[in-house]
Amino acid sequence: MAPGVTAPAVRARKGSGEPLVMVTAYDAPGARIADSAGVDLILVGDSLAMVVLGYGDTLSVTVADMEHHTAAVARAQPRPMVITDMPWLSYHLNAEDAVRNAARLIRAGAQAVKLEGGRKRLPMIEAILDAEIPVMGHIGLTPQSLHMMGGFKVQGKERDAVEALVADGRALADAGCFALVLEGVPDTVAAMITDAVPIPTIGIGAGPSCDGQVLVFHDLLGLEDRVMPKFVRRYASLKADAVAALAAFASDVRGHRFPNSEESYHLSGEVARQLSAPPEPVIGLYGRA
Ligand code: KIV
Repeated sequence: MAPGVTAPAVRARKGSGEPLVMVTAYDAPGARIADSAGVDLILVGDSLAMVVLGYGDTLSVTVADMEHHTAAVARAQPRPMVITDMPWLSYHLNAEDAVRNAARLIRAGAQAVKLEGGRKRLPMIEAILDAEIPVMGHIGLTPQSLHMMGGFKVQGKERDAVEALVADGRALADAGCFALVLEGVPDTVAAMITDAVPIPTIGIGAGPSCDGQVLVFHDLLGLEDRVMPKFVRRYASLKADAVAALAAFASDVRGHRFPNSEESYHLSGEVARQLSAPPEPVIGLYGRA
């Protein structure tokens, strides 16, 4: 396999001034699109639950779901580094459980795992790193904490919360995380964390000062058009394009315009002639047809 982007290479981008680009993908076509677009990192995010599997939050997605979609992404053999989200409850019980679940995602084809939470998750992060699995941290608005946060709410708005986020970021970097997602925090807070840690920060709803940016595939391509958070920039309207295309197909079928002759298979002239010739008369027992 051609050498792609690696955890040490991502880590080394800190301070380079060249922003990291991460996008989510959940299947082989998505991975091929991300690869062709030249992104650095593909995240098999647990946003899978909401944008692909139809759940209202990320809590229902399982390790088996994440394995299945990681394997689909990995089969595309993309050059960007593949990082998979550890789903809720796959790293909360104890370190051993966390390592086993992280290993399942690595065996499915991920090169690193991402998990949500700050200092509280250090024992699990340290155990996963100890098993030689690179870890990306994720702090700020952590969607798996939806019920504890009282909704998908911007975090780090008060002084104590800001100080806690900076301390979390430092602790994750000290533990050995190679990069850190900052989600749903004020731009100034993201800038403070970015300045405070020696690893790249990758922002989503965290302003322009991070070392990189990530968006969800379906949001940025306009495949998901039901909600559009303030931080999303839509670069295409693929849902509208897809609806128009399917409606045109339906109209052509109903109007007998699809398929046409070029879109159909044809018998050779000889066989067609044989089949269209009148049948030979059958001679019966007494010479009568
Ligand atoms: O699951 C996901 O897509 C994520 C990104 C929003 C960072 O965690």
